[in-house]
Amino acid sequence: MSDNPASQPRRFHLLFVCLGNICRSPAAEGVMRQLVEQAGLTDRIRIDSAGTANWHTGKPADQRMREAAAERGYDLASLARQVAPSDFQTFDLILTMDNQNMHDLGQFDPARQHEAKARLFCEFCTQHKETQVPDPYYGGYAGFHHVIDLLEDGCRNLLRHIQRELDLPTT
Ligand code: 4NP
Repeated sequence: MSDNPASQPRRFHLLFVCLGNICRSPAAEGVMRQLVEQAGLTDRIRIDSAGTANWHTGKPADQRMREAAAERGYDLASLARQVAPSDFQTFDLILTMDNQNMHDLGQFDPARQHEAKARLFCEFCTQHKETQVPDPYYGGYAGFHHVIDLLEDGCRNLLRHIQRELDLPTT
């Protein structure tokens, strides 16, 4: 294999964004990571998540979210971080969980790449009619599982979208 980086296959960089980065976006990261591993594309798709707020920086995902995810076969290992302006250079696609996240992203986007790179996660959902992933933080157990339902739906289609972007066969 050549050492020339130009000959390496293109890598797709994907960022999920919510408010606290302890419920929805780390769960999205966990669901997508498992799908990408199953498709054998770990080397081709980088996945990360971040929050528009810095309240939980360095903390693991909310215990309720981790428990719901574990029940569905997902291990949420990420630690919270806040969105950084450099994310708009690093990532190809930034998916926000709701409209407020999308609005709040603007403050990290001095070069105004926000509109070009950011989309709502639910654009990729085909089995659900919701246009936003609801914040489960102040609700009960069912809300966390509903978040995972939406994430599983959208991430399946998101994987196909990225496979097409990378000129790979869809799975
Ligand atoms: P997330 O949920 O944005 O899905 O991580 C929340 C987490 C924390 C808070 C709100 C929403 N909070 O108010 O601390």
